[in-house]
Amino acid sequence: MCKYSPVGILDSGVGGISVLKHIRKILPSENIIYFADKENAPYGTKKPSEIIKITDRNVAYLEEFGCKAIVIACNTATSAAAETVRQKYRIPIIGLEPAIKPAVRKFPGGKILLLATPITLRLPKLEKLINEMHGEADFTCIPAPGLVGYVESGNLCSEETVQYLKKLFSPYSSVKFDACVLGCTHFPFAVRAISRALGYSPVFFDGGAGAAKRLCDILNKEKIFHTGNNPGYIVWNTRFKNHLERLLYCNKF
Ligand code: DGL
Repeated sequence: MCKYSPVGILDSGVGGISVLKHIRKILPSENIIYFADKENAPYGTKKPSEIIKITDRNVAYLEEFGCKAIVIACNTATSAAAETVRQKYRIPIIGLEPAIKPAVRKFPGGKILLLATPITLRLPKLEKLINEMHGEADFTCIPAPGLVGYVESGNLCSEETVQYLKKLFSPYSSVKFDACVLGCTHFPFAVRAISRALGYSPVFFDGGAGAAKRLCDILNKEKIFHTGNNPGYIVWNTRFKNHLERLLYCNKF
């Protein structure tokens, strides 16, 4: 493992690209393997034990590929599996955390909407985070599993997407949210649809910038920070059975 080794970014599909965007901003030279586990998507409605098994196998692939660090760019897989895989592998594994703290800091006592997958909302990691902020803001948590599929199919702001969200938000029509925490990495791609469904734009927060900063700190500390030019990319999509087909785009490094 050296500074030229790639950083692995892992998600069930395209959601992790919202994290990659933040990583690229502060780490423009890193070689990247983007691993989209489309074969097993969506994660958000699976059992935690299944997500642990899948994440363990995917981390093993990326480690075998020589990754120097792995970002689990998925709130669901982080909540279910990050602790388990961190204990098993020696490379740094960075997870995603819903940006609840920055939202509360910006809107103390405010009304905060948290959108995530059912699993993320059910697991103790999030409960702990919300309990830490207890009394500091008013939280409304809504599971939005269908939004993952809309984003995957490119329906970022279609009428169907907006109608789906309107239905989810209808029990809260009397509430005006100050902030919306996007607790799933697919959701930053759907902010226009969320605003249209609410009828206004709350301030959006996502965990991508925090994860990118943690990755940057770790690479700096371990002195494996890459500063060269022409970073390479591999995009790996597990939906395809043939090994070469799986590597959708391979720009050598
Ligand atoms: N992008 C993922 C997340 O952050 C999961 C989406 C899914 O596969 O359900 O939670």
